[in-house]
Formats: sequence, C-alpha cells, structure tokens
Amino acid sequence: MGKFEVLDHPLIQHKMTIIRDKKCGTREFRQCVDEIAGLMAYEVSRDMSLEEVEIETPLVKGKFKRLAGKKVVIVPILRAGLGMVDGMLDMIPAAKVGHIGMYRDEETLQPHEYFVKMPADLQEREMIIVDPMLATGGSAVMAVDALKKRGARAIKFVCLVAAPEGVKALREAHPDIDIYAAALDDHLNEHGYIIPGLGDAGDRLFGTK
Ligand code: PRP
Ligand code: URA
Repeated sequence: MGKFEVLDHPLIQHKMTIIRDKKCGTREFRQCVDEIAGLMAYEVSRDMSLEEVEIETPLVKGKFKRLAGKKVVIVPILRAGLGMVDGMLDMIPAAKVGHIGMYRDEETLQPHEYFVKMPADLQEREMIIVDPMLATGGSAVMAVDALKKRGARAIKFVCLVAAPEGVKALREAHPDIDIYAAALDDHLNEHGYIIPGLGDAGDRLFGTK
C-alpha cells in the first residue's frame, strides 16, 4: 500500500491559511500556491535514490552523492495543477513536464479528459501528478489511469487540500501510489466542494468565475 502523508510544516500551514481566506486575491493566491508546491517538493523527493560520484573539491578528491536513477516528470492536471508546476521545478529543475487536461462536470461531478501530452518512456520515469484539489477523487483516479495506460509505474499524487472521500477513492483505485497533501479537510458538500476548502482552485488561480 502506498503512503498517505499530510505535509504540515508550519510554513505550509501558514501559507495554506492565506489562500483559504476569501479575501486573498489572484496574485497572492498564485504566489502562495507556487511557494507551497516548492516546499512540498522537498518532502515528496525525500526517497529519491542517490549515487556516489568522485569529484575534486578545490582541495582534495572525494566521493559524494548526487541524484541517480529515474528521471522525474511533473504532471499538472489542467487547469489548476498548472499553479504548482513552477514551484516544483524550482526544486527539481531537470524534471520534464507532461500535461493532462481534465474538467469535472458540475452536475454529475464526473471527470472528462480532453488532453494528454507526455514525454516518452514513462516506464523509466518517476511521475509526480500535481493538482491543488482532491475532492471526490474522480479526476485523480482518471489521471493515474491515463499514466498507467501509457506505461508509468512509479506515480505520486500531490495536492494542497484533500477530502477524506477523495483519499479513500484514490487509495482504493490505485493502492500502489503515494499521496501527499498539505491539508486533510473535513468533508465534501452537496456540490462536491471541499469543506472548509478554498473554493474553486482554478478560478482563484486564474481570476475566472
Ligand atoms: C478541480 C480540481 C481537480 C478536480 C477535483 O478541477 O483542480 O482537478 O476539480 O475534483 P474531483 O476530485 O471531484 O475530481 P476542475 O474540474 O474544476 O477544472 P479546472 O482546474 O479547469 O478549474
Ligand atoms: N475543485 C475545486 O477547485 N475545489 C473544490 O473544493 C472541489 C473541486
């Protein structure tokens, strides 16, 4: 079973409170989402494998560690996942970026896939899906399906706010993946919004309504 972790570093909690506030405007919202994603990248990459290399410092030769193995792909679920890409890339600059376009039908709450563009050889890569909201879990489950169908094996899902319903659905459908959230909230309301949540992440990031 993959892990489910809430990354509740004080800096993350502080920035989460800023973006939950309905008075937080688009510019500050975008800035904080970017910063939280960067802080989360630090924890999400904790189990990346290292290899030993010999280099020469200005004084002596020595053996030191550098990242080895699987190349990372950051996969935002459009639109709102885009807000987390730059923060992750600040920490993992060599990562490639694949995109999954998906929207949730407001009536049925079912996700609809409209775009997928991935780098080649997903089976050799470490995939990090980013989306601020894990609500019913429908979008996350479909995104992981899309990556597995294309050969991906090592997949992590990183969100800002998770609802218990979404965590359960994603773990049931894909027990092998690791899930990271900045906060685990209380429940979904009758419209599928996370309570207390932060509203519609895409609209708040891009200033749409
Ligand atoms: C939001 C969010 C997730 C999805 C979560 O996207 O960014 O992708 O809803 O809901 P679920 O867990 O119930 O599937 P939305 O469909 O609003 O699209 P947008 O990012 O384009 O605004
Ligand atoms: N999508 C959002 O953007 N917010 C929610 O609360 C649920 C789904």
